[in-house]
Amino acid sequence: MSTPPSIVLPESVTFSGKTALVTGANSGLGYAASLHLLERGVSTLVLATRSNAKGEETKARLLAEPSLTSRHVQAKIMAYELDLASEESVKSFATRVAADVPALDTVILNAAVNMLNWMPTPSGSDMVFQVNYASTALLSFLLLPLLRDSARESKFPSHLTFVSSRMYAYSPLISSPILGDASIFEKINIPKQSNMKRYHDSKLLLNMWVCELAKRIEPSEIVINCLCPGLVQTNIDSSLPFWLKPILAAWRYWSGRTADLASWGMIYAAGPAGSETHGRMLSDNELVTYTPFLGAPEGEEMSRKLWEETLEYSERLQPGSVHASRLKK
Ligand SMILES: NC(=O)c1ccc[n+]([C@@H]2O[C@H](COP(=O)([O-])OP(=O)(O)OC[C@H]3O[C@@H](n4cnc5c(N)ncnc54)[C@H](OP(=O)(O)O)[C@@H]3O)[C@@H](O)[C@H]2O)c1
Repeated sequence: MSTPPSIVLPESVTFSGKTALVTGANSGLGYAASLHLLERGVSTLVLATRSNAKGEETKARLLAEPSLTSRHVQAKIMAYELDLASEESVKSFATRVAADVPALDTVILNAAVNMLNWMPTPSGSDMVFQVNYASTALLSFLLLPLLRDSARESKFPSHLTFVSSRMYAYSPLISSPILGDASIFEKINIPKQSNMKRYHDSKLLLNMWVCELAKRIEPSEIVINCLCPGLVQTNIDSSLPFWLKPILAAWRYWSGRTADLASWGMIYAAGPAGSETHGRMLSDNELVTYTPFLGAPEGEEMSRKLWEETLEYSERLQPGSVHASRLKK
């Protein structure tokens, strides 16, 4: 896959004085984005990884990177545990960040899984739906007050960036949307046969969440956007069946980009990208058009339902979170 030269940001793009948070920071795009943030002078970096051991190992690995040792990086790096398969973990992570981090200028919600076989979370949800959508949306919602307060303090908009995928356009939900009285959370959570499309569904829901959230928050406070990094050589296939992995590995090797290159798109979306990207999707630092379904009546109805269900979900798990988010009416 060719790489537009513009995707690598000029040295003038800096995160000096800023605090950033990256989920899935130990691997692939999350690790590469964390490295770029440090290279570009971020003052505080919060690494969210699935265990404390992974967080500490990631911190040590980053600090040993030649591009950082040569720059004498002074950043404060905080490693926090976040398991998106667990709602309790999401809540305690958000509480800890709010307590320990005085300001939060940039959040990159990058962590995700891809699975063919259905796997339940400890509370019985579909793992792909929980990690890629429900917990990610919940976390974004719980971080809004801190992002907004930081914008007010710094007098610059904060950034909330979701790593999505263009594969959302292949979601079967586009031809069979969940409408009417049916609950999206319940319908998605029914244990299913092996189905790779759950990843596509989860990314469609994520894009709907980005659109709905952006309608209710001014970009002068928080710029909310998402991006597709393209095909990248990472561990995203690690939970797929053993027979599929070599095929996908070959495809990624021949047609994909390195995480180091592709992650510049995340840095753009989470930093220099302005209000024109609010509620929109980026690819290689440029806006891409959503599939027409999202702007069609059925897509809009499903997005509204998803919005309401996600707010109820957040309020049930964290009473007061809707009030605290101070959404536009
Ligand atoms: N690679 C591609 O071609 C491609 C294309 C389009 C979009 N994307 C998107 O890019 C993002 C990053 O993926 P990647 O390609 O860099 O894959 P990756 O190397 O597998 O990274 C995924 C990250 O998510 C973390 N994660 C998985 N389950 C988690 C959980 N329950 N709680 C907390 N963290 C969890 C992983 O942690 P562990 O290491 O502990 O599992 C890992 O750090 C994803 O949103 C993916 O959908 C990737």
